[in-house]
Amino acid sequence: MSNDAAALESGRAGGARSRLRGDGPRTAAKLIAVLKGGGSLERKVSLRSGAQAHDALGRLGHEVVAIDAGPELVAQLREAGPDAAFIALHGRDGEDGTVQGLLEAIAIPYTGSAPAACICCTDKVLAKHLMRAAGLPTPDFHFFRESSFKELGAAGALSEAERALGFPLVVKPASQGSALGVKFARSSEELPGAIVGALSYDRTVLLERYVNGRDLAVSVLDPNPTTARGDVRGDPVALPVVEAIPREQEFYNYESRYEIGMTTFVCPAELSAAMSARAQELALQAYRLLGCHGVARVDLMLDRESEELTVLETNVVPGLTETSLLPLASDAAGIGFDELIGRILASAWTR
Ligand SMILES: Nc1ncnc2c1ncn2[C@@H]1O[C@H](COP(=O)(O)OP(=O)(O)O)[C@@H](O)[C@H]1O
Ligand SMILES: [Mg+2]
Repeated sequence: MSNDAAALESGRAGGARSRLRGDGPRTAAKLIAVLKGGGSLERKVSLRSGAQAHDALGRLGHEVVAIDAGPELVAQLREAGPDAAFIALHGRDGEDGTVQGLLEAIAIPYTGSAPAACICCTDKVLAKHLMRAAGLPTPDFHFFRESSFKELGAAGALSEAERALGFPLVVKPASQGSALGVKFARSSEELPGAIVGALSYDRTVLLERYVNGRDLAVSVLDPNPTTARGDVRGDPVALPVVEAIPREQEFYNYESRYEIGMTTFVCPAELSAAMSARAQELALQAYRLLGCHGVARVDLMLDRESEELTVLETNVVPGLTETSLLPLASDAAGIGFDELIGRILASAWTR
C-alpha cells in the first residue's frame, strides 16, 4: 500500500513537472492512470511496457498515475479519479477483457479494444473459428478441452487429429502469449506430454498444423483523431511488416527464442511489395473481423514453400518495451514513440 501511495505521488509529481515543458502535441493535459504489472505470466514485460508508456505520457504533458494492477486496483482508480486508463497489461486479466469490463463498470475510459474483442482475440480457438468462417487463412487446427479428456474419451480422437494435421504438430494453450506453453510434437509419442504441458496453462489446448515459414507481425493503428476531418474517422492503418528471425534454429524450444538476444527483428521485413501489402491487408481484415479498437498486433506465418500467408493470432495489448515489435514498426512508419502513445491514448475517447 505505502509503495503504491508513493508511486501515486511520484507519478503525479513527475507528470506535473513534464506538463510545464509543453513539448507534446497540442492536446489538453489529462490525468492518466497507467495500468501495468498485474498477476499474469507476462508481468515482467508489462512492467516495462508500462514504464515506457508512463514516460511518454509525461513527455506529452499529461499527469500520470502508475498502478500495479492487484487487489487494490478499483480502490486506487477511485482515489486517483483519472480521465482515462492506459492499459499496459499483457496476458490474463489485462488482455482478456477482464480489466476492460471492470473499467466499463466504473465508467473510466480506457485504451484499446473493448471486452468482446479482447475475449475473441485471447481465445485462439474462438479467433481461429471466426477467421475460418470469414474466409481468413489460418493454419488447420483441432482443439480439445481438458474436460473432454477426462469425461468424453477425447484421447481416442487424437490419432485422427494427428493424421489430419501431420507431424511436427504445434501444441499450444488456447490462451497465453509470448510463446508460453507453445510446443512442437514430432511424433505420437511426444503428443501427450505436449498436451499435458499446454493444459497446465489453459483448460483448452489447440493442435495446429506446423508451418515451416517466416514469422511476421503486422501492427494496426486506428487513424490519428487529431488529423481526422469532422466526424470522418477514417480507416485503421497497417504499419510496416516486422519479421522475427531466430539467431539459431532452436526448433523445440520456442520459449527461449523470445529471450533477449535470441531473435532479431527486421522492419520493414524483406518481402516483395505485393507480399507486404497482402500481409498488411490480412492484418487489417483480422483487426476488423475481431472488432479491435485503437491498436493491435497480428502475428502471421509465411510458408517458405507455398508462400501462403496465414494468421496465427491477434494481440490486443501489444508490447511497448524498447525491444517490442509495435514501437519498431511504428518507428519505421515515421511515427515516433510519443506519437504512438498519444494515438493509443486517443483510442480511450473514440470508442
Ligand atoms: N502453426 C505454427 N507453425 C509454426 N510455428 C508456429 C505455429 N504456431 C506458433 N508458432 C511459433 O510460435 C510463436 C508463438 O505462437 P503464437 O500463436 O503467436 O502464440 P503466442 O505469441 O500467443 O504465444 C509464433 O510466433 C511462431 O514462431
Ligand atoms: Mg504471438
